[in-house]
Formats: sequence, C-alpha cells, structure tokens
Amino acid sequence: MSVTTTTQSVSFLDLAALHAPIRDQLDAAWAETLAHSSFIGGPHVESFEQRWAAYCEREHCVGVANGTDALELVLASLGVGPGDEVIVPANTFVATAEAVVTAGATPVFVDVDPDSLLITAATVEAALSARTKAVMVVHLYGQVAAMDGICAVADEAGIRVVEDAAQAHGARYRGRPAGSFGVAATFSFYPGKNLGALGDGGAVVTDDTELAAAIRTLANHGRGSHLLHTHSGRNSRLDGIQAAALNVKLAHLDAWNGHRRLVHAAYRDRFEGSEVTMLTTLASGTPAHHLEVVRVPDRDGLRARLGRAGIATGIHYARPCHKHPAFARFDVRPLVVAETAARHQLSLPIHPTLTLDEVDYVADTVLEAL
Ligand SMILES: Cc1ncc(COP(=O)(O)O)c(C=O)c1O
Repeated sequence: MSVTTTTQSVSFLDLAALHAPIRDQLDAAWAETLAHSSFIGGPHVESFEQRWAAYCEREHCVGVANGTDALELVLASLGVGPGDEVIVPANTFVATAEAVVTAGATPVFVDVDPDSLLITAATVEAALSARTKAVMVVHLYGQVAAMDGICAVADEAGIRVVEDAAQAHGARYRGRPAGSFGVAATFSFYPGKNLGALGDGGAVVTDDTELAAAIRTLANHGRGSHLLHTHSGRNSRLDGIQAAALNVKLAHLDAWNGHRRLVHAAYRDRFEGSEVTMLTTLASGTPAHHLEVVRVPDRDGLRARLGRAGIATGIHYARPCHKHPAFARFDVRPLVVAETAARHQLSLPIHPTLTLDEVDYVADTVLEAL
C-alpha cells in the first residue's frame, strides 16, 4: 500500500462526465421531442416502454412519474388496502414503506441477511400472518435478492411478490433480469440510478395484462377511454423528454454496469484481508453495483477522514425504516442485523466514469485510516 500524500477530489457520482460523451445524442433527442412536441405520451414513451419491457423480459411496461408512484400504483392495482399487511425489509429507502402506508396497509418490517443486507425467504416466512397480502422484495444496492426461496415461500403462502428494483437496473439472478420475478416490478429513473432520466421518472413492468391496464388507467386520472373516467385515479405519467433521454441512455446501460463491476472487483482486491466488510454477492447473482456499501468499525470517523481527503461518500441508510419517526408506530421487534448495519455502513464512490486510479486513491485512504 502506498501512503497517500496528495489530496484529490473524487465525486460520489459525476453525471456531467457521464453525459458528456452522449451529449449530441441527448441534444438530438431533445430537439426531436421539441419538433414533435410530444411532451406527454408519444413515440419516445411508447418505444421506451417496449424496450424496457423487453430488457426486463416482461410483456408490459407502464412508464410513470417516479419510482414511488410506481410502487403505490402497483399496490393500489393489486387491491392492497386497510387491514392488509405487507412485508418490507427494514433496510431499504423509505419509499418502499411509504407506498405501503399510502395504500392504507400495514408495513411489517423484517430483518435482512447479514452478508448481503437483503431480505431473505426465512425472514419473509417468519413474518407471515393471516393478513399478509404481499411482500416488497427490494433488490437493494443493485443486487437481486435470492428470489428462488422468496418466491417459493410467497407461492406457498398465497401472497404477491412485488419487486422494488429501483436500484437494480440490469442486475441478474440465475440469468434472469431484476424485475422478471414478481407479479410486478417497479423502477425509478431518478438521475443517479444506474439508468437515470434527466429528471424524475419511473416504470412498472409485469406480464399481467390486466394489471398493466389497471396501472395505466389509475396513472392517467382513472381514464377508461378518452371521455370516460372509470376510476378516481391520479396523474403519474412518464414525460416524453425523459423517455427520449432514457432511450439514448438504455443503449449504454450494460457497458456502464460492466464498468461498475470492474470498480467493485478492484475494491474487493484492495480490501481483501482488511477490516472492511464488503457485501457478499449471492451465488448465481450478477449485481449491478448501484452502491458500494462497506461496513467498518468506526464509520463516522472514516467518513470524516475520507471527506478531508476530498472523497465524497454516502450513507445508505443511517437508520432502518422502522427507526424513523415516520414509521416508529410499526416498530414492533428488534431487527438486529439492519439496526447494526445502519451504524456501520458507508457507501464509497462507484459509478461508470470513476477511474481505477481513483479507486486506488479511495482504497489507499480507507486502508490508511483503518
Ligand atoms: C429502493 C428504492 N425504492 C424506491 C425509490 C423511489 O424512487 P423515486 O425517487 O423515483 O420516487 C428509490 C429511490 O431512491 C429507491 O432507492
């Protein structure tokens, strides 16, 4: 290990650098959208929906306004509501739990696997009750959860599996893409995601034709036909300009994920045998490495040290969902793995334009600090 004597700046994510090489294509997409003036719906939305459904190996894709709406629309269309329980991993972004509460149902928070920090078949099984209607399987940090066991438990119990794939565009498990396992899967295209729009965006993918139609109706003011509103719905549509940008960026997703895998492998080499605990990759899994989450004894000390060295980091997440005041009323039992992880987890830079020299600088600084 070399001793780092210089300070350089390493960004957590560099969207300007990501977009620079495809700037002409994005400009052309914008010019075409303006010329066509198809800002809501239109050819870009239709082609993106088709391409994203195909990428996820699904029959249908419905573009919506963001990933949270996607979750809410799925639950509403599945008829999840008051009196129902929905199993949610405690270690997730709050949107997963928010959608359950918005539906009027009760989130039942469960613990996660200590190695991958993902929900497991065992934690789902232990939380089942007569009121369980669904489980939200979150492919957190870019890794598909162990779907074989989870789907088997859910099938046996007769509950629906909803995949929250907001962080897992292009990740695979047993050769199948994230989003291809449950009754439906949701994606966020928030700009920082592996596939990000130039603003907010989201999608639902499913093989269920009726479910897709119900979601499309609810997301468009409950409009059954042009002049007839069959349901009281909402406005949650994917913009034409966002779809145009997503069509450009989708062509690069696999290459960008490939670079994330190189970065992850480099970190793994550098941290081998150290005090840094990296996430375990599941057997038969090919993660998309949305986040590089490591656990260290003194997370806050390390984060401060990296900050002084010019290295941007994040915390995903500083509290498990049930420890936020918003969800404290659903906090019924200790969830030791998620609660412990929240104190130790730190997200290091990982993104498609991070250089391997920068990875070395981050790794050197981490190892010196430890
Ligand atoms: C796991 C997870 N679920 C849902 C969402 C919500 O997506 P959006 O911000 O597009 O509403 C996010 C976004 O950060 C997420 O990470």
